[in-house]
Amino acid sequence: MLDKDIEKILVSAEEIDEIAKRLGKIITEEYKDKFPIVIGLLKGCVPFMGKLITEIDCHIELGFMDVSSYHGGIQSSGDIKIKKDLNIPVKGRHVIITEDIVDTGRTIKVIMDLLKYRGAISVSVVTLLDKPEGRVVVLDPEYIGVTIPKEFVVGYGLDYEEKYRNLPYVGVLKPEVYSTK
Ligand code: PRP
Repeated sequence: MLDKDIEKILVSAEEIDEIAKRLGKIITEEYKDKFPIVIGLLKGCVPFMGKLITEIDCHIELGFMDVSSYHGGIQSSGDIKIKKDLNIPVKGRHVIITEDIVDTGRTIKVIMDLLKYRGAISVSVVTLLDKPEGRVVVLDPEYIGVTIPKEFVVGYGLDYEEKYRNLPYVGVLKPEVYSTK
C-alpha cells in the first residue's frame, strides 16, 4: 500500500542489511573494550538502530534522546528541540550517536556538543544516510552507511508528516504526495 506513493527506491532493504553488517563489524572492532553507550535520536533512529545493534558483537549500553528539527515539513527548521533527554550519565563514557540521516548537521552538532560538555570521553556518529550537500555546519560522521543526493527521502525511519517511517527501504516520494496538500 505504501509503495504506490514512492517514485524510486534509493537504498534497498538488502543494501541496508549489508550496511548494518559492515558498520556493525567496524564498530565492534573499534569499541570492543570500551563498553560504549549507543544513543539513538528518536524517532528516526528506530529501524536502523534496531538492525545495527544486532550486528555489534561487543557489550554496549543503549540510550535514547528525543530530538526534533523538522517539525513535520520537508526542510530542517534549524530549531533543535530536546523533547526527551538521556537518562544515563555520559561522563567518562564513549558515546556513539545513531541517526537515520545527517542533513544540515545541526541536530548532531548540538547533541555532540552537549554530550562532550557533559563529559563524554568520545562522541562519534553512525548514520544510515549522509546528505553532505545539505550541510550548514562542519560535521563528518565517522560511520556512514551511504551518501545520498540532496533529495527529500522517506522510509526506514525517515518520515513525511510522521508517515512512511515503516517502509523497509529508503525512497523518494512522488511529488504529488506533498504537492496536493
Ligand atoms: C531528522 C533526522 C535527524 C535530523 C537530521 O529528525 O532523524 O535527527 O532530522 O537533520 P539535520 O542534519 O538537518 O539536523 P527530525 O527532526 O525530523 O525528527 P524525527 O527523528 O523524529 O523524524
